[in-house]
Amino acid sequence: MTDKLGNMRRTHTCGQLGAGDVGRDVVLMGWVLRRRDHGGVIFVDLRDREGITQVVFNPELAPEAHAKAEAIRSEFVLGVRGQVRSRPDGMLNPNLATGAIEVMASELKILNQAQTPPFLIEDNVEVAEGTRLKYRHIDLRRPRLQRNLILRHRAAAAVRSYLNNLGFLELETPFLTKSTPEGARDYLVPSRVNPGMFYALPQSPQLFKQLFMMAGFERYYQIVRCFRDEDLRADRQPEFTQIDLEMSFVGEEDVMAVAEGMMAALFKDILGLDLRTPFPRLTYAEAVGRYGLDKPDTRFELELKDVSDIVGGSGFKVFAEAVGKGGIVKALNARGCMEMSRKDIDDLTAFVAVYRAKGMAWIKVREDGWQSPIAKFFTEDEKKALAERIGMQVGDLIFFVADQPVVVNEALGHLRNHLGQKLGLIDANRYNFLWVTRFPMFEYDETEKRYQALHHPFTAPVEEDYEKLDADPLQVNSRAYDLVLNGFEVGGGSIRIHQRALQERIFRTLGMDEASYEEKFGFLLSALDSGAPPHGGIAFGFDRLVMLLCGESSIRDVIAFPKTQKAACLLTNAPSTPTKAQLNELYLKISPLAQS
Ligand code: AMO
Ligand code: AMP
Repeated sequence: MTDKLGNMRRTHTCGQLGAGDVGRDVVLMGWVLRRRDHGGVIFVDLRDREGITQVVFNPELAPEAHAKAEAIRSEFVLGVRGQVRSRPDGMLNPNLATGAIEVMASELKILNQAQTPPFLIEDNVEVAEGTRLKYRHIDLRRPRLQRNLILRHRAAAAVRSYLNNLGFLELETPFLTKSTPEGARDYLVPSRVNPGMFYALPQSPQLFKQLFMMAGFERYYQIVRCFRDEDLRADRQPEFTQIDLEMSFVGEEDVMAVAEGMMAALFKDILGLDLRTPFPRLTYAEAVGRYGLDKPDTRFELELKDVSDIVGGSGFKVFAEAVGKGGIVKALNARGCMEMSRKDIDDLTAFVAVYRAKGMAWIKVREDGWQSPIAKFFTEDEKKALAERIGMQVGDLIFFVADQPVVVNEALGHLRNHLGQKLGLIDANRYNFLWVTRFPMFEYDETEKRYQALHHPFTAPVEEDYEKLDADPLQVNSRAYDLVLNGFEVGGGSIRIHQRALQERIFRTLGMDEASYEEKFGFLLSALDSGAPPHGGIAFGFDRLVMLLCGESSIRDVIAFPKTQKAACLLTNAPSTPTKAQLNELYLKISPLAQS
């Protein structure tokens, strides 16, 4: 049997009491972290979200409370009345905020009992993630997750306060809506009252926030859930949260300045850090050229060097043929890694193979010359040019990949990050922000045989590239910008198209005919025609930002109820099979293919 709360009310939290409270009568409420018996006296570490306080049940001073305390187990929920006293000499716990005091219990209410928890409510206990997610309500009691979610709340509050002060309005947009292309698959929701028809859950509020600008609200923001049916990784979830904003009468600089101010406010508020603004900038071409990726981690060097011009005419067939076919050869200098073993090099070759690199050549720069399977193919002049371009020094190990540019850049870009970690080149206490600008407007999708928008189709092209829109779309740059933090894309946005004719032109480049873009985006085109101001905006990945602020390596550790790699919620067992009645009501049938 458990007690009722009655008229017992907490006076303090479990993280609040200190030496200054000695003698005070208090009521605490919380969960039993641990119970220890010492020669008849029972000690309980009582936990709530604010901290832990030691409670003492003495059989002589409070026999009734002590007798009840005999039944206490881990995670029981207690209400305790008592008096604060100093801990006896030698019993102080400097690791605990309340470590100078304890509460001598006079009255105990066991408010609820608890099953033995499936794992200890402590950080650094090894528990399979599946078990943690199945018992997420218990997992969330751990100090680390409590701290993460409390920080998440504070971060949202800091963002709201910053944007509110700048005249942004927090406005909501619908979840049951039409597809907005952000490049992922949509989650569809059947409409019962419109048989055979579906809503799409928004991949972002992109079109609605633009409509807010056309409606005259000028500055909008929302901390909003977005839904994307894509393959999941440590930094991706099928539903995730964006800090989404949009502004009228602005160019790139204005949006970037607001974003930088927001990051500065956030990092000051949460970590007490002063970020230096403005953040450095690289064009997409520079970022990919120097780091292989459009979201480089700039906390360490190891820059890539293009050596195509030096080795394109060389006697090494692999390099010469790659360059001959329009490919490139790039080098990555792993400084001081000459002693790396054959096995290590093989492992790294397997690592780049994941990014489709067909091989990886290497050179060890020894005191007495190069040790390398490919050294024999180069002339003295070529060797000299390579050594100079790559900045070779004795002790270095150089890796080369030759292939089409995408493959070379991806393979060496990821290898660079991998080596940065492996060689301990990354200072975990640094926060390197970086803007990447001037993205290509389009990429060519080989499987679909058509152009795709790299950002989204509502992004404006840079004006001087308009003329290339028809003849050479791949040469057109856009007014998009990404915000990168320590190798993570934490935000992305652009200046938008605000004129109907240009928007139609982009739709046509993307392979849509008039009927198809009218059907999909007629509402946008008509809004663009109704007095649309120049506008632009950005959206930040809130989960990723909080992850980095918390020093976590998975966004699942900063989301209260995350999904697994298979997009499942292990706590509620979603998704699940609907009943026949539900399906009938929606005029739906499950295909037999779904059984497999
Ligand atoms: P974008 O698609 O770049 O832009 O998304 C903005 C930011 O959202 C985060 N993000 C994700 N976080 C977790 N899980 C995911 N699956 C996921 N996908 C994206 C990233 C990303 O930088 N409408 C545009 C914004 C704009 O143009 O204003 C948009 O959604 O941190
Ligand atoms: P091979 O002539 O195929 O024996 O290759 C000689 C060396 O070149 C080996 O170290 C291979 O790993 C390397 N190699 C093969 N293909 C590539 C490539 N596409 N890019 C870089 N190095 C390669």
